Amino acid sequence: MSKLTKTTRRPPLEHLAIIMDGNGRWAKQRELPRIAGHQQGVKTVTRIVDECVSHGIRFLSLFAFSSENWGRPRPEIDALMGLLLQFLSSQRLKMLTEGIRLRVIGDLSRLSAPVQAALTDAERETAQGQTLTLVLALSYGGRDEIMRAAKRIAREALEGRLNIDQLDNKSFSTFLDTGEIPEPDLLIRTSGEIRISNFFLWQAAYAELYFTDVLWPDFDAEELQKALDDYLQRKRRFGLTDDQVEPQLRMRESND
Ligand code: FPP
Repeated sequence: MSKLTKTTRRPPLEHLAIIMDGNGRWAKQRELPRIAGHQQGVKTVTRIVDECVSHGIRFLSLFAFSSENWGRPRPEIDALMGLLLQFLSSQRLKMLTEGIRLRVIGDLSRLSAPVQAALTDAERETAQGQTLTLVLALSYGGRDEIMRAAKRIAREALEGRLNIDQLDNKSFSTFLDTGEIPEPDLLIRTSGEIRISNFFLWQAAYAELYFTDVLWPDFDAEELQKALDDYLQRKRRFGLTDDQVEPQLRMRESND
């Protein structure tokens, strides 16, 4: 399978972000409990992780549990946390052997102690992974992340450790949960909803957006390929003109 980063005259895809949506509707269509949709959703996660490795994508970010999801019925929250724990233990060996590094972002203080511990252990154990960084957004909201970053910046400035006048986009972004992780190139949302629902508000400023009606449990290699093909047709200008972007594309081509 072709490595996207090596494809010439096409925008490189280093970071793919996904809003996994539609588990509940998938279950409802089959008259199953919502949790059956989430269980199927986890299977899709493992499938898409494999696909990203095959495509040579370096970062995959998944919106797994939003700050707003805390408002769901307690049994659904508990079931989701149970699935997360199962996922971590069932994928541990694969992550280690395939060089998959886990990174977790969000307000983790709201997660239970056992879930926090399992996540910390998995992050530590997989820290040396070089193939793919799997970023799980848990208890995550873009506004909350920006607010937490702003508070840290204000605190550092008040304590005299940061010169506010030197703060710019690049240094501000290091205060976000994503830190040194590159910005997403492509953001996919499944299930037909056309919004980003508080995900990667800062990071997705120049991401290409792709919306599909397919529900997350049905999202597979073929659907991913459609999204990637669509992305490869896009011309990314980052606010510049065509004439400015063309030489950059040619230079990248000659370096490939
Ligand atoms: C959206 O579907 C999905 C979620 C809120 C949770 C996503 C979680 C998983 C796929 C499983 C856990 C993840 C990992 C990484 C182990 P929805 O419930 O909002 O669906 P609906 O809009 O159709 O009701």
